[in-house]
Amino acid sequence: MSAGPPSLSITGAAQVLRPPRDGLQHLRGDELAAQTLEPGELAARDGRITALERDPIAEVTIDASGWTVVPGFVDCHTHLPFAGWRAGEYDQKLTGVAYEAIARAGGGIAASSRALRESTDEAVLAQAGGLAGEMLAAGTTTFECKSGYGLSREQEMRALVLARELEIQVPQTTTSTALLAHAVPEGYTADTWMEVVQAMMPEVVAAGSVTALDIFVESIAFGLPQLELMGQLAAASGLALRCHAEQLSTMRSVPVALEAGARSLDHLSMIHPDDIAPLAAARCAAVLLPGAEFLGAEHRAPARALIDAGAIFALATDANPGTSPVFSMPVIIGLGARLYGLSARETLGASTLNAAWTLDLQHDRGSIEVGKRADLLVLDGPAEAVAYRFGHNPVAIAVLGGEIVHVRDDVAEERISR
Ligand code: NIG
Ligand code: FE
Repeated sequence: MSAGPPSLSITGAAQVLRPPRDGLQHLRGDELAAQTLEPGELAARDGRITALERDPIAEVTIDASGWTVVPGFVDCHTHLPFAGWRAGEYDQKLTGVAYEAIARAGGGIAASSRALRESTDEAVLAQAGGLAGEMLAAGTTTFECKSGYGLSREQEMRALVLARELEIQVPQTTTSTALLAHAVPEGYTADTWMEVVQAMMPEVVAAGSVTALDIFVESIAFGLPQLELMGQLAAASGLALRCHAEQLSTMRSVPVALEAGARSLDHLSMIHPDDIAPLAAARCAAVLLPGAEFLGAEHRAPARALIDAGAIFALATDANPGTSPVFSMPVIIGLGARLYGLSARETLGASTLNAAWTLDLQHDRGSIEVGKRADLLVLDGPAEAVAYRFGHNPVAIAVLGGEIVHVRDDVAEERISR
């Protein structure tokens, strides 16, 4: 007897999101709009998609008539796990206090660092686990975790261990990014802290689950020399390089990050116009974070120009207690669609296959193709309604590795037969 998930069939969907052709690693430019949303059905066995047609003898059948099937959302930029919240700061920001001013007064990243230090592992994991549950209900089947609130060697390593424990605890697949340069810790300069980072690398690699390094390049954080060094450390350790780039000011970090072989550049709200074409031509994702832009009244990233120039364009929540306490990909899709002027196909491709590519998981997930993992969502309307019914959770049923893991309370029992 196999202990795997029961065989699954999804029937009668009005729309199934499919890439323009099979085997694509990511979707650039027109490939996003060339995704199809035709009626369809599918079958899964042992956790993988086995056919793009119904399986009449499947053990479990979902009746998706009138509804839409898309790949599970991949949230490729979150700051989970973290401790506590910073609602008071948001209240300040709403009345005009700048993020930089809050950070300089000991708020911001430093406040979350104190909260992490003062929290038990159990408390951090309980909060993060609850949020992962919210994310699953909103359709996130894979997400990235980042450290970055440690601000000391010991607490950064603890954050990486907590990310690993979270991975074991939650049903989703997670990846772990070591954001070792997030804010300059007290008592250090950017350069002396990078010496600590360099000394930490063997331990970070030995932690086993880290796949990327990250750095916040900003006037209030780290500069271009530290970005260059982080690139060298990533290359020497076989890790991907990611960068919080051009969020609050134009630092010209894009050419430096591309030279260092970055896998993704995230935020880009203030990207210099000359940097759009080189980024778009590179094997590097442009990850836009409309939650941080909207809630922080930040500058708007040139999404259309990036897509038109052929970038590997992705969307993510940036879920964190400061700039974007948002955990719902449908909310991000709604914001991205409106703020950037994107179609349903563009936002969905950016939240699935391109986000999977950002995490180097494109071979296994991010699109509906035979052989890929059956991480699937059944949405309660057309694909266009994800952005249109802004604030509504469109995810009626979530399937993870071929198994139904979430059914929204109001979904009629007749929809699922076992
Ligand atoms: O991605 N920009 C730097 N890091 C986070 C915010 C961190 C915080 O405010 O806690 C971000 O927006
Ligand atoms: Fe971030």
